[in-house]
Amino acid sequence: MNDPRHFHVERLTVVSAARYRALMLQAYEQEVEAFTSTVVERAPLPISWWEERLSDDHGTSAVFGGFMDGTLVGAAGIKFANRHKTQHKAKLFGLYVAQHSRGQGLGKELVLAVLDYAKSRDGTKVVQLTFTEGNNQAQTLYESCGFKRFGTEPLALLMNGEYRSKVHMWTHLTEA
Ligand SMILES: CC(C)(COP(=O)(O)OP(=O)(O)OC[C@H]1O[C@@H](n2cnc3c(N)ncnc32)[C@H](O)[C@@H]1OP(=O)(O)O)[C@@H](O)C(=O)NCCC(=O)NCCS
Repeated sequence: MNDPRHFHVERLTVVSAARYRALMLQAYEQEVEAFTSTVVERAPLPISWWEERLSDDHGTSAVFGGFMDGTLVGAAGIKFANRHKTQHKAKLFGLYVAQHSRGQGLGKELVLAVLDYAKSRDGTKVVQLTFTEGNNQAQTLYESCGFKRFGTEPLALLMNGEYRSKVHMWTHLTEA
């Protein structure tokens, strides 16, 4: 039977910096509640900042892109802790799928790609993430990938004069 999905996920390299930047600025603009970063903070950053995020030079982070018919429509990243006592931990960040590409499994595929990559790194045991309380799509997706809640940070974000909590989740990689 043919696979109805027409997307693929691959690790992004520096050559995709401009496309990744455009996608994430769209994410911060359209999904204000989901992200801590804002367009105002990120738009003025030089392209070298985005290239650094995608660069393999320091081995501290990786970003995966989701493509539909060759167009970058989604992304998710992972940042590895590098301090001696926390180097077993990593943080998933910047999960986004453009609205017209949602509901087809790409978001889940991006999270699973990040987890596979984390598993392939010697010594990485724990992946953590946060989401804004009330983001049910994100919560259901993360739970379906094996993440569990371990706490809620009150007053984590201040948006349009309102404080919002952030839910913290983690997964033990041997169990993911
Ligand atoms: C969250 C997001 C990445 C999901 O992307 P997606 O490609 O639509 O997700 P998928 O199609 O892979 O769905 C995976 C699972 O997520 C959950 N999910 C997705 N959309 C949902 C919805 N509208 N309501 C409830 N659950 C939903 C389901 O469990 C789904 O699995 P199922 O299809 O087997 O039921 C996307 O909605 C998005 O970019 N949202 C805005 C940014 C954001 O919230 N990012 C997370 C920041 S922490």
